[in-house]
Amino acid sequence: METRKIVEEADQYLMPTYSRFPVALRKGRGARVWDIHGREYLDFLGGIAVNVLGHCHPRVVVALQKQAQRLLHVSNLYYIEQQVRLAKLLVTNSFADKAFFCNSGAEANEAAIKIARRYSWERYGAGRSEIISAIDSFHGRTMATLTATGQTKFQKGFEPMLPGFKYCAFDDIESLRSAVTSETCAVMLEPIQAEGGVHIPAADYLRHVRELCDEKNLLMILDEVQTGMGRTGKLFAYEHSGIQPDIMSLAKGLGGGAPIGAMVAVDKVAAVFQPKTHASTFGGNPLVCAAAIATIETLLEDGYILDQCNRMSAYLMERLGRLKEDYEGKVIDVRGSGLLIGIELMRDGLPYVNACLERGVLIGLAGNGSVLRLTPPLIIEERDIDHLIDVLEDVLDKVP
Ligand SMILES: Cc1ncc(COP(=O)(O)O)c(C=O)c1O
Repeated sequence: METRKIVEEADQYLMPTYSRFPVALRKGRGARVWDIHGREYLDFLGGIAVNVLGHCHPRVVVALQKQAQRLLHVSNLYYIEQQVRLAKLLVTNSFADKAFFCNSGAEANEAAIKIARRYSWERYGAGRSEIISAIDSFHGRTMATLTATGQTKFQKGFEPMLPGFKYCAFDDIESLRSAVTSETCAVMLEPIQAEGGVHIPAADYLRHVRELCDEKNLLMILDEVQTGMGRTGKLFAYEHSGIQPDIMSLAKGLGGGAPIGAMVAVDKVAAVFQPKTHASTFGGNPLVCAAAIATIETLLEDGYILDQCNRMSAYLMERLGRLKEDYEGKVIDVRGSGLLIGIELMRDGLPYVNACLERGVLIGLAGNGSVLRLTPPLIIEERDIDHLIDVLEDVLDKVP
């Protein structure tokens, strides 16, 4: 089928939930993808922070192939070996003691919200159920996670939002402190606000949040759906801050491209998720767990990929720093951690994203649309970055 025909049929058969670029991608390898006409693109979006190992990493592909031949799905009423192995990998490499598996970031956050409320209910009784999240946060599109998302533009027309949620300013401990009441049970934050515009808080912010949570007996939930799985140069972004949350949500990079989410927590919290409290039919099924095991093992093996992420981050930030100086009138700021990077422009970024696409480079947008978002596979190389910079320079020269 030609792209034009696919676009026509998409218009006819799909709900128009996405403003799509007129490109149909068919194949991927490493940091490159090809469309149905064979045109090659350098992928600096990585499925929006999903393809941490690049496209079709051989270990993930083989794990999926082998698992697909053996067993695709069984109910969580039985033990699933791959799920246990994956939980063990997450637990031994994080603060957490136990894991619950689901299918997406929103579901992982739903599970986090539910477990926090249940914990508070069991320990302190009813009525202490409020969750505080941050303005400009993004936690998902289900009703509870949409309510937790501190951006009215996503909520518009879907009101009423759910009761029991409140917002504070991000990276402002006093704002959080003044939002806490006797009804608060948890604080839910992204270590870096990604979707909201790549906002990186002060180095001691999460430590102050942890201290406040301890002082007020609140659970600290970190949404690492986008920052987790090596994205910021450590397996999880909380590791940069020297503190540990009580609950963490994961998805995106976890399955190396296979759809899986996880909510992990410390024992005292995990204990409240007893049989019949929470469940997911597909959550942690053998197929996606096999992909996630291969992804984490590859990420951790001899540290090569995290090292590469850190090296490429330093190189990319240095080159972008120079780009900012050269295009002072157009580029306001460059910020990032690992390979989660935002380039804030003076104006709407969409024409720049389109111009990059025309030149065979995929990038994304964040925030109010004026921030170009880069979330490439962690295996990108210097020559890919050089190419990206050449393209960005050309685009910044030509797009007004
Ligand atoms: C921080 C964060 N949380 C949650 C989500 C929602 O994840 P999903 O789209 O898998 O439901 C996203 C998606 O962009 C995210 O960036």
